[in-house]
Amino acid sequence: MKIKLKRVFQCQNCGYASPKWIGKCPDCGAWNSFIEEVVEEEKKHTLNTMDKPQPLSLSSVELSVTDRISTGIGELDRVLGGGIVKGSLILIGGDPGIGKSTLLLQASSSIAKFGKVLYVSAEESLSQIKLRAERLKINLPDIFLLSETSVERIIECARQDDFAAIIIDSIQTVYTEDAVSAPGSVSQIRESATKFMHLAKTTAVPVFLIGHVTKEGAIAGPRVLEHLVDTVLYFEGDRGYAYRILRSVKNRFGPANEIGVFEMTGMGLEEVTNPSLLFLSEHANSSGSVVTATIEGTRAILTEIQALVTPSNFGMPRRNFIGVDYQRVNLLVAVLEKRGRLNLQGADIFINVVGGLKITEPAQDLAVVSAIVSSFRDTPLPEGVVVFGEIGLSGEVRAISQTEIRLREASRIGMKVAIIPKSNMERLKDTFRLRIKGVRSINELIEIISS
Ligand code: TYD
Ligand code: MG
Repeated sequence: MKIKLKRVFQCQNCGYASPKWIGKCPDCGAWNSFIEEVVEEEKKHTLNTMDKPQPLSLSSVELSVTDRISTGIGELDRVLGGGIVKGSLILIGGDPGIGKSTLLLQASSSIAKFGKVLYVSAEESLSQIKLRAERLKINLPDIFLLSETSVERIIECARQDDFAAIIIDSIQTVYTEDAVSAPGSVSQIRESATKFMHLAKTTAVPVFLIGHVTKEGAIAGPRVLEHLVDTVLYFEGDRGYAYRILRSVKNRFGPANEIGVFEMTGMGLEEVTNPSLLFLSEHANSSGSVVTATIEGTRAILTEIQALVTPSNFGMPRRNFIGVDYQRVNLLVAVLEKRGRLNLQGADIFINVVGGLKITEPAQDLAVVSAIVSSFRDTPLPEGVVVFGEIGLSGEVRAISQTEIRLREASRIGMKVAIIPKSNMERLKDTFRLRIKGVRSINELIEIISS
């Protein structure tokens, strides 16, 4: 059969195709991301009359219990939703050097206790992997290494034996003969990932794909891969710090937005089972520093929000926020000016969430505002106070969800007082080992902080 080839320009960020080169992607907005690729013309599907598709009535479909295997790493298991689901395709993305290969090699060592693991490296030599394994003190006969870049050859090898898990390190460096473009391009990644998807589904072996993230924080062709795979995990962290956060952004078999916390040590990644203690370990009771409880996946984590409010030396005050939503905090500053009558116009405002966490939920509002007021007035909050709640445009404090999980974590860590929305306080069923103060408005909050 003659395959018709077609040349198109494809955005390497999102996979948008165009017949001619364009500077800015109309879909994802990336600049200078178009590369000419050769793709196959789509073949017309002809239905084979022998196997007509047969729909099944919903009530006759039987539920199969999803089989899971443990990775031996508690934090990784939780992020996956309770272990690896057989036959699933899992993408792990992250900056180069963040520890993706280390994490999966460590996971391999526990999976290898009850089955063979195939670790395919398309970017490192076998001796480089061996060196890492020595450092991690892993030496198991059931971890099989393969240094190979051809997808077809990897799949052939994977089908030869019964593996408990397959790891592809990385999806950007393998290539398939069925796509004509260079490795790492959108059509190669899409085509290769589809083949691994097929492998996972037909053999019921879980397949991990490691993907590098570009400077802009996206896996090359992220949208292309994200809808294809079952689970997407991102490994985040600042290389200046030892701790790493593994976050699930999509999971067909578990909760999304679950996080696992690790620490990179001289002997590999260690689990941090009590992240609140880690994030609060250097918390000092100075002005501008406030402890809040944020929900990450299924659990609450206590962390510290710091604000620094200083008189501005320039005409245009500086606003620099790390770890919180820029628009949201600007809105809160406006509410503080108008409803709280705080004169912040001539002030530089800096905000930082300790621990490299990114808080996106509105429940952080009350803590952000408390931190700004505390720094502005130069009055520290008393020790052992945790603050959370949402703030509306008229300065009212609004109810939030999952108050009880947050309060339970706060009392477990030893917090003494919780400042929360009044409406949440009235609805509490449990009793907690800390004093709870309900606030109705931003002015009530300012009064508490200033007194
Ligand atoms: P690696 O897993 O190779 O990162 P990735 O696959 O995401 O590119 O890990 C790289 C970094 O981790 C490297 O800078 C060395 C460091 N590291 C440790 O600090 N301790 C260890 O035990 C190991 C194996 C690596
Ligand atoms: Mg690597």
